[in-house]
Amino acid sequence: MATNTTEKVNLPSQVFDELAKRYENGLGGAQIDIVRGILSHSKDKYPIDSNSIVHDNACGPAVVTNQILSQGISPPPHIFATDYAEGMINVANCYKERNSWDTVTVQHMDGQSLTFEDEKFTHSISSLGVFMFPDEKKGLSEMYRTLKPGGWIGVSSWKDVRWPTAALAAYEKVFPDAKDPMVLPLAKNWMDPESCERNLREAGFQDVKAEVLPCANRQPNAKVGASIFAGFLKQISPTARAWDEKTWERYAECLSGLIEEMFAPSADGNGVEVTLYAIVTSGRK
Ligand SMILES: C[S@@+](CC[C@H](N)C(=O)[O-])C[C@H]1O[C@@H](n2cnc3c(N)ncnc32)[C@H](O)[C@@H]1O
Repeated sequence: MATNTTEKVNLPSQVFDELAKRYENGLGGAQIDIVRGILSHSKDKYPIDSNSIVHDNACGPAVVTNQILSQGISPPPHIFATDYAEGMINVANCYKERNSWDTVTVQHMDGQSLTFEDEKFTHSISSLGVFMFPDEKKGLSEMYRTLKPGGWIGVSSWKDVRWPTAALAAYEKVFPDAKDPMVLPLAKNWMDPESCERNLREAGFQDVKAEVLPCANRQPNAKVGASIFAGFLKQISPTARAWDEKTWERYAECLSGLIEEMFAPSADGNGVEVTLYAIVTSGRK
């Protein structure tokens, strides 16, 4: 019988290259809810204005950048959007060109060794980013180093992204005699507000606050939602990546059924949604 333990897995940038094009639809708008939560913390403590210099760290498809610029700050602040996956950088650059984001610089960069000088930024934001770096302590210390004194940090992580429960239940059902647990890339020390606050305090930040933020993954229907979640899992679980196609199909059928049950009709009558739980943590240097 498999013990359903999970552990942190180091994801190479190629995994995110493969995910880049499907990433935004896959999270179904939850990533936007989360960034808005981060920005509302900033608004309370240290609002972003025209003079701000912002780092969108592990930017993915420039989600933080997009939300800041859609606030209509005039003139817009300077934003440096960086990520270590070429696929994500390509998507971010497309948005930059399409929307004429003249104050945005998009750069390919590992968040564990930023090439920016010390004390460059007024705001350093990493939504669903730094918590999944192989060395998140190094990631946080780089954010600290590159923030101006008094500067503001905002990060987010997952408390419960929901699909792991279904993934482990399907594993138990399909492989009741498995000797090895299913390996999923969960960052255990970022899954409750107390741990998140401790992570930022240990990195040197003050005035730290964390809160759980419900957000909705909205999809056209449960089948689409299930196939997206299953696709994510196939990319990021070393256990699933090692299976042959037949084994995967057997597992995916069971998994999809369980995930479909998680979706409920959206309140506005458009499609379906499932509530995920993120944690937003912020502080000052
Ligand atoms: C879940 S996505 C989050 C994207 C975006 N920030 C958002 O709010 O949706 C995680 C991102 O972290 C990036 N990433 C992971 N490890 C990284 C590292 N060591 N350095 C830079 N980016 C990294 C991935 O390429 C991916 O774009």
